[in-house]
Amino acid sequence: MGTQNGVLKSSIARKIAMALSGFFLLFFLLQHLAINALSLISADLFNAASHFMGTNPLVQFALQPVLAFGVFFHLIMGMVLELQNRAARPVQYSYSKPEANSTWMSRNMIITGIMVMLFLGLHFYDFWLPELKMKFIDGIWNIEDRYFEELQHKFHDPIRVGLYVLSFVFLSLHLMHGFQSAFQSVGFRSSSFTPMIKKLATIYAIVVPLGFVIVALYHFLVQ
Ligand code: HEM
Repeated sequence: MGTQNGVLKSSIARKIAMALSGFFLLFFLLQHLAINALSLISADLFNAASHFMGTNPLVQFALQPVLAFGVFFHLIMGMVLELQNRAARPVQYSYSKPEANSTWMSRNMIITGIMVMLFLGLHFYDFWLPELKMKFIDGIWNIEDRYFEELQHKFHDPIRVGLYVLSFVFLSLHLMHGFQSAFQSVGFRSSSFTPMIKKLATIYAIVVPLGFVIVALYHFLVQ
């Protein structure tokens, strides 16, 4: 009994940790979209914001490592929770109709999550690795007006834009369940809160990925 209690507690602790890293990533996504959206308004504003984020020591040496850890932790913990759920449910829903009791999004978080992580691999290759090379290998930190041009250059390629847009659809599906699930894991379950959180989750899961789609398509079509 004691062991069972222990297993239950550590599984709840994992879910809460997963939710906290999810909240952090939800917040990161909002600020990332806000900065990228500046590129629709003014090249100068986008360059200034990107230069600040790319060179400010607090962002570079405190926030970025936390972000890298947050992404990594979310990935690993997502896998652990998936394996744990599978082990707890050896007969895969043979007696119940999962479609009737849960959404497609909630049953496929691992698939939509893997698609988002694959996107991040491409995205890091596109933007982050060249950034790291320029700053830490070539030692170039002071060119302030390059970011907008680099962004436009990347979005010339229809295949890349297509892959990005497809990934944002998976991101939307992931957020649609992830957002409300995070609130549930930290204890928001009351009947008055749940409909509001579901509404907020739907709005966030549509508006944020759509914002990224608009940024990508804008730079593809208008240049
Ligand atoms: C049209 C859409 C997007 C554009 C134009 C874009 C642009 C960028 C750029 C320019 C950087 C490099 C920043 C730097 O290190 O100086 C970057 C980094 C990054 N992006 Fe995106 N991004 C987009 C969508 C996304 C999405 C949907 C996610 C997450 C699911 C994401 C996650 C990240 C992460 C984790 C980093 C590395 C951290 C950082 O340097 O801030 N991005 N992105």
